[in-house]
Amino acid sequence: SHKVIFDTDPGVDDAMALYFALAHPEIDVVGITTTFGNVTVQQATTNAIYLSRITGREIPVAGGGAMPLMKAAGTPPGFIHGDDGLGNLPQRVNVAGTAEALSAAEYIVDMARKHPGEITIVAVGPFVNLGLALKLEPELPKLIKQVILMAGTVNEPGNVSPVAEANVWNDPHAADLVFTAGWNLVMVGLDVTHRVVMPFTYFAQLAEQHQQHLAMTTLRHAANFYCDFYLRERPDLGHACFGHDILAFVYLVAPELFATQDGRIRVQLEGMGNGQTMMDKHGGLHYAQAGWEKHRPETRVCLQVDADKCLSLIKQTLESDWLR
Ligand code: BDR
Ligand code: CA
Repeated sequence: SHKVIFDTDPGVDDAMALYFALAHPEIDVVGITTTFGNVTVQQATTNAIYLSRITGREIPVAGGGAMPLMKAAGTPPGFIHGDDGLGNLPQRVNVAGTAEALSAAEYIVDMARKHPGEITIVAVGPFVNLGLALKLEPELPKLIKQVILMAGTVNEPGNVSPVAEANVWNDPHAADLVFTAGWNLVMVGLDVTHRVVMPFTYFAQLAEQHQQHLAMTTLRHAANFYCDFYLRERPDLGHACFGHDILAFVYLVAPELFATQDGRIRVQLEGMGNGQTMMDKHGGLHYAQAGWEKHRPETRVCLQVDADKCLSLIKQTLESDWLR
């Protein structure tokens, strides 16, 4: 099975992704690291502990970066995921559990050194923790098996600007470090996440199938709020949401559902286009003189997806008997 560190800013679709990972028999979530993004990092840590505890798991959670590496800190957009990141839950049960003593970046480096070549990182928030971990341990890319990012876009319009996807836009400098670090790197971006649409009714059904288990009624509440946002943003979808973060885990277990292309990805760091992921697909003769040095590492970029098969895999996985 895949030993995974899940780097996340929960966040409703982050919660969906975590539950997919916990439910899937081939995924072993060894640790969760949190970042600012959909909420503050403190709230993200609280949510990561809460979401994992109510499924009956005790997964280590390490709190991470509170703000971007270089860009000024912003305010989380409460209207998308709720002020609490989970659609403003009316109440929470008490759960035990505190964050690790190590910071997220230290935790990632520590685990990578203890298990060289064994850890996969699935990162679905702004990439500040990976940026900081690379600064702590420049050899990190050699110690990590694979990194899968929910990030960016190539052909699809952005979701925070015409060209930028939120996780990259939130910390473009960290994202650019990650794209040029030289690990075995996969980008699961809006080109594919905008093809996989999950209706709210699906989460209502899941709660029923799992006899109103707290984890599933919590997810239903969060999904309802998130789908309300999309109903305003994209009325053409109906009461539904994009798959986003869950697709990074779908790629991990079923890469054959994606069509990919390898190329160099760089991030636009300034101006109106900041946060744009630019892909060099063919290496033009003049590109080197514009800063696109030939030796830059490539990213495996997901460009197309079999949405129906993704949805059945997600359904089958979340319907299975995984809750404790
Ligand atoms: C990404 O941004 C966040 O709002 C979501 O959780 C997802 O990781 C989509 O652009
Ligand atoms: Ca996220």
